[in-house]
Amino acid sequence: MTKQLVMNHAKHVRIQAFVAILTRGAFVGVAIFALFKRRCRKHTADDFKTLENGLIKPLKLFQQCEKKEGILEMIRDVQSFKTGKYIGGGSYSRGVLKNMPVAVKVALKNGRKSFYKELQIYDKVSHPNILEAKAVHFGIEDMLFLGLRKFSLKHYFSNFGKNLGIEQLKQYCIQIADGMKYLHSKNIIHCDLKIDNILIKDESGENVEISDFGCAIDLEHDHELKVNGTITHMAYELLKKSINANYSATASKATDVWSFAVTVWQIFHKSDKFPYNFIKVGDIVANYENGKKLPKPVLLPEIIWRYNLLRCFDLDPSSRPSMAELHKTLIKYHNAPIVSTI
Ligand SMILES: Nc1ncnc2c1ncn2[C@@H]1O[C@H](COP(=O)(O)OP(=O)(O)O)[C@@H](O)[C@H]1O
Ligand SMILES: [Mg+2]
Repeated sequence: MTKQLVMNHAKHVRIQAFVAILTRGAFVGVAIFALFKRRCRKHTADDFKTLENGLIKPLKLFQQCEKKEGILEMIRDVQSFKTGKYIGGGSYSRGVLKNMPVAVKVALKNGRKSFYKELQIYDKVSHPNILEAKAVHFGIEDMLFLGLRKFSLKHYFSNFGKNLGIEQLKQYCIQIADGMKYLHSKNIIHCDLKIDNILIKDESGENVEISDFGCAIDLEHDHELKVNGTITHMAYELLKKSINANYSATASKATDVWSFAVTVWQIFHKSDKFPYNFIKVGDIVANYENGKKLPKPVLLPEIIWRYNLLRCFDLDPSSRPSMAELHKTLIKYHNAPIVSTI
């Protein structure tokens, strides 16, 4: 890319951000600017010299690109994609981008804020167990292009659950723990971990990916630590706060750890059903205050339950294990003997 082209690109991005601020409000404009500032930053004065001299040397920021971070492609040409039938709850449709099948998420009128938050998070992450975002389009409708998947883990269980053995279930848990450990290392908290938001990655059914960052919080940028997660998966302190305004609690890595443990519980049940007394906020809070926890799933090895999961349900968030610790011990116990307690 020549110096002139790069400067035109930077100017174009600034104009685009300015137009967005005028037409759609400051949040969209700032999101566009932040997203593409990094692309422009790749070309510093030194880079121009290097490129003009024809001496292409590896640059720090290009190395960042090699890690596939901050490189969501911007699609300007509306001919390069098509959208088709709706999938899921309505904000997604099937689509084709440059001849590749994709899932297209459209920024809905009343869901723009969470759309841009989700977009910024996808632009920051790249991990084999996190759904891959491929590109973004800012147009009459703003769109995020994601890898198209066939099943969520919830749907996979209802279709093929019977065929899945304990080894595979353990693998799912290790992969989700790996993805969550990565997210926490980037100071991102998911805030809505559950089997509905885990997708089956490929035809083999052996690999899973974390998706749905609509409730996620980037601890480095977001100052509002309000949570809109799912009651059955919410940590004790968040449930308590929801019924007692004087109780103080915020979303944290430890609240994700609680939700991870509930997700593992679902995985070993191969279902999204809960006992009748673990559904309402008041019941769940009362259960945990009386020392009553979810019952151990029959398929879940005792050693994992006792030394990993029960610690995640500690009422004190600071006493819960970290995702890094959980990942490590899940691998360690991967070959643990299966002891049923019924
Ligand atoms: N990449 C994808 N490929 C195929 N279907 C998807 C994909 N992402 C989401 N879906 C479908 O859309 C549903 C809702 O998506 P999600 O991101 O979880 O949003 P929300 O739960 O906030 O509505 C999912 O349960 C799934 O059925
Ligand atoms: Mg969801």
